[in-house]
Amino acid sequence: MTVSPATSAHQHAQPSQQLQQIQVLPVAGRIGAEIRGVRLSADLDRSTVDAIRAAWLKHKVVFFRNQQHLDEASQEALTRLFGGAPVAHPTVPVIPGSSYVLELDSLHGGRANSWHTDVTFVDAYPRASILRALVVPASGGDTVWANTVAAYEDLSPTLRELADKLWALHTNEYDYAARRPDSSLEAYKKYQEVFTSTVYETEHPLVRVHPETGERALLLGHFVKRFLGLSSHDSAHLFQVFQEHITRLENTVRWRWAVGDVAVWDNRATQHYAINDYGDQRRVVRRVTVDGDVPVGVDGRRSVLRSKTPKPEVAAAAE
Ligand SMILES: [Fe+2]
Repeated sequence: MTVSPATSAHQHAQPSQQLQQIQVLPVAGRIGAEIRGVRLSADLDRSTVDAIRAAWLKHKVVFFRNQQHLDEASQEALTRLFGGAPVAHPTVPVIPGSSYVLELDSLHGGRANSWHTDVTFVDAYPRASILRALVVPASGGDTVWANTVAAYEDLSPTLRELADKLWALHTNEYDYAARRPDSSLEAYKKYQEVFTSTVYETEHPLVRVHPETGERALLLGHFVKRFLGLSSHDSAHLFQVFQEHITRLENTVRWRWAVGDVAVWDNRATQHYAINDYGDQRRVVRRVTVDGDVPVGVDGRRSVLRSKTPKPEVAAAAE
């Protein structure tokens, strides 16, 4: 007898169709699961959607292989499986012919090799991101995700108490140069000009109560500028203390991409890191984000957008 960690649900759009069994196979101990037996589309039957959503909430990031049939429109339509509508990036233009699809192309500056949660510089940042691999390097270009709920739960009671009270300022205009050794690359500079064509600043609690699971998650990543009420020096130290709990290897899962893979992560309970280790090879992924709600802290206070400042000259130059 074989014992499988998989859980399963049945997919039967019509009684006459052959039953398809979907499987949920955990990848790492604390985060990540591969879902097999699903051809992704917006009109999956209810029980399959329920099984996918339950796996997504439990494992924080789910992976689907061999989804080459998807195009921009059908990728956008997948957002409803995760309970929301597609939402465009606040500053980076979508690809031609689509309404919400963001392309990250290694040739055009799309290499985010630092830990972050998507778009936390706005208040109601996306609940989920759906990423589809179109071009994958022969080696390298993996993505790593970290479970920010597990990170919170691992904190000592004293650190948890401190975390519950802290708030941080997130902005899309952070110190890129300090974090990117090759930031002189022209394409990357251009990408960042567009990325910061409007500067956002938002205050978030360090601990977000997850609106669907009630779990508490640490909310940090590379958009954090400083903690409120602390000097930048103390902020930097404290950032490191909490961020290192998030990125402990025990809390992570690493995915080796193949063309046609789709990853969907709960952007309220994870951070991720796209490893820039593939040199001149090309890597192209396309992302659709699902609209989110305004985070709520442990004390019930909600995140606040503090400022939104367009830079007209940069926006014009990027046209
Ligand atoms: Fe990202």
